[in-house]
Amino acid sequence: MDDIAAFIRRLPKAELHLHLEGAITPATLVELSQRHDRQPLTLTEAGAVYRFTDFSGFLDAFKAVTSRLITPADYELAAWRMAQRLAEQGVVHAEVYISVGVIYLWRNHDPECFEPIFAGLEAARLRAERELGLSLYWIFDAVRHFTIEEAARVFRKAAAMLPQFPAIIGIGLGGDERRCGSEPFRDLYAEAKAAGLHLTNHAGETTPPEAIREALAIGSERIGHALSAIADPDLLNDLRDRRIPLELNPTSNVRTGVCPSWDDHPLRHYFDSGLLVTLNSDDPAFFGSDLESEYMLAHTRQGFTRDELRQLASNSLQASFLPESAKARWLAQIESAR
Ligand code: ADE
Ligand code: ZN
Repeated sequence: MDDIAAFIRRLPKAELHLHLEGAITPATLVELSQRHDRQPLTLTEAGAVYRFTDFSGFLDAFKAVTSRLITPADYELAAWRMAQRLAEQGVVHAEVYISVGVIYLWRNHDPECFEPIFAGLEAARLRAERELGLSLYWIFDAVRHFTIEEAARVFRKAAAMLPQFPAIIGIGLGGDERRCGSEPFRDLYAEAKAAGLHLTNHAGETTPPEAIREALAIGSERIGHALSAIADPDLLNDLRDRRIPLELNPTSNVRTGVCPSWDDHPLRHYFDSGLLVTLNSDDPAFFGSDLESEYMLAHTRQGFTRDELRQLASNSLQASFLPESAKARWLAQIESAR
């Protein structure tokens, strides 16, 4: 491994925008299929599930992979494999989106279905903490282009479970922004905040900067993607002045076709403008990426120096929802990483 790759691995990093379902590799999908299908998928067949040519196709593929997660043990396996991959990359903390909206959809909204699945996730989280020294938080993600009632079900489940499960750190909205913005979720976001949940939101991934303004207007604390903010200098100033963390996902944006190439991604511009940017992998199994490779591409494609990579790692922990004491510990270690 060359010098810079080793440096990236040694840097303590947080991953703040990672979907559990998007981290399931074709090999794990085969394993899941062997558990459930009379004629299990071959690796080639599994690989075909991940094929897409545009953003809508990506969302369909994501749903198809998610439909293969059936039992609590499946969720535990997916979460454990994800945790192992994170630890191998020098990730020390991750805040992971769970598509709770899709879970309910596949199970006809059975109100009893979620708790056993969550027990599987928690088993993996506790094992990751014990065996890998990796901390995990969960963010319950609703699908914005389903109905408001579906999102309410997801967010209220997070609020109801939070007192017993403090690793449920927040809520978010994924799905197709072109079909639904943020305004319809204003009251639900206020309700989630009152329950003690943090508020994240995918915004400006496939939509103009107004979508990011709308996400901020309903109280979103962190913005996922924020790709289109580049087109609105006033918005950039606002994001900078308010220290709004941006969960950027460059390879994801290139692979879903919303950004022409890594070189064209606004990461460098945002960073140089003083925004609180973080690098993330979104759905690594779909995009052939992981967090280490995002850092490496920042170096090779946009000339991020060691000190700038260190700043990105530092941003990731600052923008996390960890307690201040834990942040301070990691930030000191990042400072001294060589
Ligand atoms: N769900 C999983 N990945 C997503 C993305 N990049 N955008 C919207 N919804 C998603
Ligand atoms: Zn995402």
